[in-house]
Amino acid sequence: MKPETRKKIQDLFQHYPQRRGALLPAIYLVQEDLGHVSPQSARELADLFEIEPVAVWEVLTFYNMFYTEPQGRHHVYVCTNLPCSLRGARTLLCGIVDHLGVGCGQTTADGRVTLGHEECLGSCGTAPMMRVDGQYHENLDLDRALKIVDDLD
Ligand code: FES
Repeated sequence: MKPETRKKIQDLFQHYPQRRGALLPAIYLVQEDLGHVSPQSARELADLFEIEPVAVWEVLTFYNMFYTEPQGRHHVYVCTNLPCSLRGARTLLCGIVDHLGVGCGQTTADGRVTLGHEECLGSCGTAPMMRVDGQYHENLDLDRALKIVDDLD
């Protein structure tokens, strides 16, 4: 963990009645700096919060917006919940898997894209859809989805 990140986390403590309340924003800070939160970073957080490392790990692995391994420069997540699946999301995801040569949870060899699937993202009326670096792309077909993926640098 960078010294400046440690300082930011220590500054957070004053905003919470209990130090532990600052754990989520602290994890965000570490991930923002390093791109993911490794087991080593989790141990450092535990030391800082004076809690057991497993308590950090439980929070880290509960939420899908935290990453415990290095990630690609871009995140592509296809919604595969029922409404999106009924409108072709599985075909979309399989096409992207074939195109990139990686499965869900994997990163392309060049480090460009980490692929995944999501539960409902609240955009069922515009299914099928995918979230790319936090931005929604809706009413997709495979050609459009592949163009969006290929346009990522
Ligand atoms: Fe895909 Fe709701 S099922 S956005």
